[in-house]
Amino acid sequence: MASDMVRIFDTTLRDGEQSPGASMQKEEKLHVARQLARLNVDVIEAGFPVASPDDFDAVMEIAREIQDGPSVCALARARDKDILVAAEALEGARSPRIHVFLATSPIHMEKKLRMTPDEVLKTIERSVKLARSKVADVEFSAEDAMRSDRTFLSEAVRIAIESGATTINLPDTVGYALPTGVRDLFQSLIATVPGARTVVFSSHCHDDLGLAVANSLAAIEGGARQVECTVNGIGERAGNAAMEEIVMALKVRKSYFKLDTRIRTEEFFRSSRLVSTITGMPVQPNKAIVGENAFAHESGIHQDGLLKDKDTYEILVPEQVGVFGGRLVLGKHSGRHALKDRLEQMGYPLSESELDKVFLRFKKLADQKKELYEEDLETLVFEDEIRPQDRFVLKRLHVSGGTEIPPTATVVLERDGVEHRMAGLGDGPVDAIYRTVSKLTGSNARLVSYAVKGITGGTDALGEVTVRIDQDGLLSLGQGSDTDILVASAKAYLAALNRLERKKGRILRTSGEVSGAGTTPSP
Ligand code: KIV
Ligand code: ZN
Repeated sequence: MASDMVRIFDTTLRDGEQSPGASMQKEEKLHVARQLARLNVDVIEAGFPVASPDDFDAVMEIAREIQDGPSVCALARARDKDILVAAEALEGARSPRIHVFLATSPIHMEKKLRMTPDEVLKTIERSVKLARSKVADVEFSAEDAMRSDRTFLSEAVRIAIESGATTINLPDTVGYALPTGVRDLFQSLIATVPGARTVVFSSHCHDDLGLAVANSLAAIEGGARQVECTVNGIGERAGNAAMEEIVMALKVRKSYFKLDTRIRTEEFFRSSRLVSTITGMPVQPNKAIVGENAFAHESGIHQDGLLKDKDTYEILVPEQVGVFGGRLVLGKHSGRHALKDRLEQMGYPLSESELDKVFLRFKKLADQKKELYEEDLETLVFEDEIRPQDRFVLKRLHVSGGTEIPPTATVVLERDGVEHRMAGLGDGPVDAIYRTVSKLTGSNARLVSYAVKGITGGTDALGEVTVRIDQDGLLSLGQGSDTDILVASAKAYLAALNRLERKKGRILRTSGEVSGAGTTPSP
């Protein structure tokens, strides 16, 4: 095994999609997969095909489309049906991987699986062999490895290797481990398990104690040569290890780690924005590498130092991770051809009909805003081209208010293709919009949070609103942007309602076709 390369296994589309409130449609997943290919990740975990027909279709399409660069991986429990369905979804892939997982910790085996340790070992053997009979590249994950008994875990890993696994993943499923323990576990298993040096060891850390990145780096120190991670660190509960943080740590501290990845780090910022827009999950301003403040120096002492020598307070330059600080791109007089060229340079080759639509919106925006930045163009493309068919579409909005008159919103929206109009009052303009939209859509969702920020600088900047709503325990996120923040607010609310509709549809379909067979898969 090449020992100076760390493989980046991206699970944004699988574990990342398990983030509360976030879910992606097939078209959205395809856009993320294309961006992951531009980032040059080694493996894209595209989904969990047996979970639902939507997941199956998404994996199948990604497998067919991503023919250069990354391998495409599908997740499967250690069950025949899961493995066969995963293999079927991956049929068109150039380089398919099946990822089989089974828990090895005492609590998971006894309470969740209700299997004896011996049954677990036999199931690992059988399922890895079955996966290997379908594809040459098989990963086995010992779920909850960090809370497993080391002797038993060693035996499970030995059997998985003997049965044909090519990658062994030791996940910190509940985000419980500490770096020293992780390093030690990898070192010891790699040194003692027969056959360990013929496979790649992998880490998969969750961030419940805020240690996912530190633990992933410790795993690498212990000999892991694959890390599983997500863009922006999204994922189940507190999330997974953030790809951009691990990769930049390896790069900036290369003299310490002496390891490389194949990642094109200049794609990080764009990847971060794409995933945030599509999932509706905002990136915290102080997030390392891709947060808004990651390169902002506030203190006078720091600014003075930077002016004298950048190295005083800057360990990496923003351009390395694709932050160009509001790169002015086009203006009001730019033509269709210039827009097409620019979007292609940015990695968005649009079809002629897509370009027609984006150009119309570009002209409208250029009339409202003097200067257009890359971020504005991305917003145009993400918002309208990527977003799949929505049930509710905002057609028109009029809001009045101020110190003398009660806030009133008149909303015209399309519901299932038919236009509806209504006016309503509220405590403030946003409240008036949301109450009216709720009546028009028949929704009883509760607004959990509302946040607004400017995408670029200036009072004419696009405003981006993010909302989180809850309907009967089902969480949904939505984002909307516009030069008018009230319009952005309406778009964000409708985006969250549309996501909720899709989620409800998916649950209904899933419960009919999968749970009906006696299983409700959830890794
Ligand atoms: O956290 C975990 O253990 C997982 C496995 C399915 C790899 O996501
Ligand atoms: Zn996980």
